[in-house]
Amino acid sequence: MIILDGKKLAQEKEQQFKIIINNFANFRKPKLIVILIGDNFASEIYIKHKQRVCETVGILFELKHFEATISQEELLKQIDILNNDSTVDGIILQLPLPNSFDEEKYLQSILPSKDVDGFHYQNQGKLLQNYGTLIPATPLGVLQLLEHYKIDVLSKHCVVIGISNIVGKPLANLLINKGATVTVCQKTTTDLKKYTLQADILFTATGREMLITEDMVKKDSTVVDIGITRDSKNGKLVGDVDFDNVKNKVKYITPVPGGVGPMTISALIENIIYLYKQHIMN
Ligand code: GUN
Repeated sequence: MIILDGKKLAQEKEQQFKIIINNFANFRKPKLIVILIGDNFASEIYIKHKQRVCETVGILFELKHFEATISQEELLKQIDILNNDSTVDGIILQLPLPNSFDEEKYLQSILPSKDVDGFHYQNQGKLLQNYGTLIPATPLGVLQLLEHYKIDVLSKHCVVIGISNIVGKPLANLLINKGATVTVCQKTTTDLKKYTLQADILFTATGREMLITEDMVKKDSTVVDIGITRDSKNGKLVGDVDFDNVKNKVKYITPVPGGVGPMTISALIENIIYLYKQHIMN
């Protein structure tokens, strides 16, 4: 069994990002803005991770933290200001938004050219149709991890569990575009095991602890755990996979933490640099 070490690869990439950004020292610095509405402990932790890595590689980082009472007009106005600010390369509207907010309206108000998460219809439509575009960070990080370990998806049966707009759906489409045979499952899938047992590469992104047990994976397959949640007993970070038991049956497996998580942040940095280059070259 080989552990897909996302932490190590992300650290290597971090060094490369520093060099790339340093090569643009004669230009303005790349800049990421994160918008947070209201208080959400988990979001604040995610944002701190993003901030740390941005600042390490030389990307300016700014958090715009608004009260949950901010009006619709004011939030749209703030996004518009950032859209028109030529020193801003990427805008993240941190999810989840408080319940009363219309997520679609605000996500779609971010210009496609600053949509570093890849939520905009235009970016998702391009991805679906296999045209060059920004790839959402988690699927991009996952594909880079597979590529690093020379795990080819061409002609493989890939099973994706999870259908979010930011992970499951783009990942499934990217795999299709790379020549994989793709099955998409979700929380409501009856007899999930019937599908997971057929997977040459299993991707799971549900946030359900212990969803994938040893009896559900094919021998010598690859398991990519994109889930992240807190262990109900000890509060530690865990994925969807019963790692300790599954690891002995498969050929490759990602740990949680230290697998997909660091690769997601690394891919976010790559996306900021991608948008930055477009901005400074135009
Ligand atoms: N909340 C948790 N993960 C993400 C993410 O990747 N993007 C945004 N915008 N919100 C999140």
